[in-house]
Amino acid sequence: MYKQNVQLKEYNSFRTEAYAKLFCEPENIAELKQCIADYPTEKKLIIGGGCNLFFTHDFDGLIIKPKLTGITEVSDEENEDEDIFIEVMASEDWDNFVNYCVEKGFSGLENLSLIPGTVGASPVQNIGAYGAEVKDCIKEVIALDINTHEVLSFSNSECEFAYRDSIFKRTNKYIIISVVFQLKRTYSYKPKYFDLNKELENIAFPTIKDVREAVIRIRERKLPDHKKLPNCGSFFKNPYISKEKSEELIKIHFDLPVYPQHDGKIKTSAAFLIDKAGFKGKQIGNIGTYKNQALIIVNYGASDGREIVKFAQTIQDTVKDKFGIELEPEVRIF
Ligand code: EPU
Repeated sequence: MYKQNVQLKEYNSFRTEAYAKLFCEPENIAELKQCIADYPTEKKLIIGGGCNLFFTHDFDGLIIKPKLTGITEVSDEENEDEDIFIEVMASEDWDNFVNYCVEKGFSGLENLSLIPGTVGASPVQNIGAYGAEVKDCIKEVIALDINTHEVLSFSNSECEFAYRDSIFKRTNKYIIISVVFQLKRTYSYKPKYFDLNKELENIAFPTIKDVREAVIRIRERKLPDHKKLPNCGSFFKNPYISKEKSEELIKIHFDLPVYPQHDGKIKTSAAFLIDKAGFKGKQIGNIGTYKNQALIIVNYGASDGREIVKFAQTIQDTVKDKFGIELEPEVRIF
């Protein structure tokens, strides 16, 4: 089951090179338990599609890439008419699953169409797009505790979801086995996100399928396909700033996007700040930002992940100097 000295280039969508000391692809829960039992003291990293992480050096430990597949519609006596519960194994492809739901008329995930990666990775960073976050459709997450080898169930609140964050991202203690989604059998479009509303403006009552197709069109226009141009999606999180800070910035940049939050803070746009700092479409050596979306860092051919980190640091320093705002990476760097 174990391979040694495995090149990780094909396992991260930035395509950086690094070797893993040990690598395995367990195909069921028993094998998964076996591999954590076989190497109790080795450092471990669990990867899905590798679409939100990259390597800057060799990994001195065990990389586990689970191969757990299956989609099961589980009924729930109490709620059967309105909602549908679906348990999806961690290694299912995210967008295939979204397409499955859209084809069957189950609503909730259509705004999250075309996000690369696996179902198991979706709760880790609480994927989000076009006004939706996956946390709003998750009933529970089933995960293996790496230390105790127990299979645990996390209710939605126990997952401690936040913007691009969860207990799974913060602790690195759990391997996600499956996710139970709670979706609706009915649908009516609720305008939430400017770009998507605009794309749908000629349709009076958009169906789930219309929404999926609109999201796909927007994403294909704005975001590069990592299979053609290696990238990990948004490189930084959108930053939170104080109300005072936003007012100060708006005096100079009247078009600064501001999204007021429940706690009084203001979420603003990292893409806007990077763009205004002169980085949109800019390339230094092998690394650049995408021409249509300044928040996406793209790799034109670097094999050393440190080149990406260096470029990202240049962006962070410039944005800090120009706006006094610290950008925090959203992508995981190993
Ligand atoms: N903008 C610019 N320059 C640009 C791009 C955008 O100034 O080059 C400004 C515009 O004002 C625009 C605003 O930034 O209205 C927001 O841009 P966009 O709608 O593209 O969204 P985003 O905030 O940059 C977030 C997510 C994306 C998600 C989109 C769509 C984060 C870190 N990123 O990006 O998620 O697809 O919204 O909902 O929250 C990802 O996480 O990998 C990802 C791609």
